[in-house]
Amino acid sequence: MSKREFGLIGYPLSHSFSRSYFAEKFAKEGIDDASYENHPIERIEMFPDLLQKIPGLRGLNVTIPYKEAVIPYLDALAEDAAEIGAVNTVKRYSNGELKGFNSDIYGFAETLRRFIPDSYKGGALILGTGGASKAVKYVCSKRALSILSVSRKRGEGRILYEDLHEDLLTDYQLIINTTPLGMHPKTDDFPGIPYQALTPNHYLLDLIYNPSETEFLKRGARQGSLTKNGMEMLILQAEKSWEIWNNPHC
Ligand SMILES: NC(=O)c1ccc[n+]([C@@H]2O[C@H](COP(=O)([O-])OP(=O)(O)OC[C@H]3O[C@@H](n4cnc5c(N)ncnc54)[C@H](OP(=O)(O)O)[C@@H]3O)[C@@H](O)[C@H]2O)c1
Repeated sequence: MSKREFGLIGYPLSHSFSRSYFAEKFAKEGIDDASYENHPIERIEMFPDLLQKIPGLRGLNVTIPYKEAVIPYLDALAEDAAEIGAVNTVKRYSNGELKGFNSDIYGFAETLRRFIPDSYKGGALILGTGGASKAVKYVCSKRALSILSVSRKRGEGRILYEDLHEDLLTDYQLIINTTPLGMHPKTDDFPGIPYQALTPNHYLLDLIYNPSETEFLKRGARQGSLTKNGMEMLILQAEKSWEIWNNPHC
């Protein structure tokens, strides 16, 4: 039986969560007609060659640094992926056409839905303005939360860390870390926010999943704030990718 092939493109791919996640999933669920491999390509220009070499490839995840760069190679984009300009899932149809999706949006939306009550109407303070922050911003704006980004660089709709005063945290009781600060192996790092102003009414969400409790979350927990890491989002986005590849209506 020829297997349906799936995989991940990015560079480098030394510490990829996806391959071991899908290997375990296939074993646990008795899925024996599928395989999932890493494809570390040094340049996105190598993408068409990869597709040619693996005709059985049905779907790909896309990670750093190609979530935006892959878009010109695709024939179609899901509406939300087009809106944020980032793709983390590619589906290859039997006629060879490629469509891009963004399952981080679903992963984050569902994580947020489970974490904060529907009644939450405060603001969302988003730390960092990189790739992952786009999905986070998109979801927060769909939930009609007012958004303020915090960045190391000046720009529209954002403030600098040094301008983040304690009283702002009264209006922004949801704080989402989309920076890599605190990620393994630099676990002592943390974003520079006024932690002393956090209260039990604050929600701290970290996209980082390794370690499971970052210094950012620890500092929030010490103030009595509710905290959550990025593991659930990671699993939700992987499962959403699998659904996209397998659902004939996608
Ligand atoms: N749980 C999940 O499913 C999931 C999904 C996607 C990403 N993630 C995690 O989210 C994190 C960010 O990923 P990404 O793809 O968005 O990375 P990215 O594109 O590199 O962006 C990270 C942003 O963080 C800020 N930043 C970077 N270094 C910093 C530093 N030393 N001090 C302060 N700010 C810094 C920068 O924003 P400014 O330049 O504006 O300061 C940068 O744009 C990573 O830890 C990643 O593993 C998790």
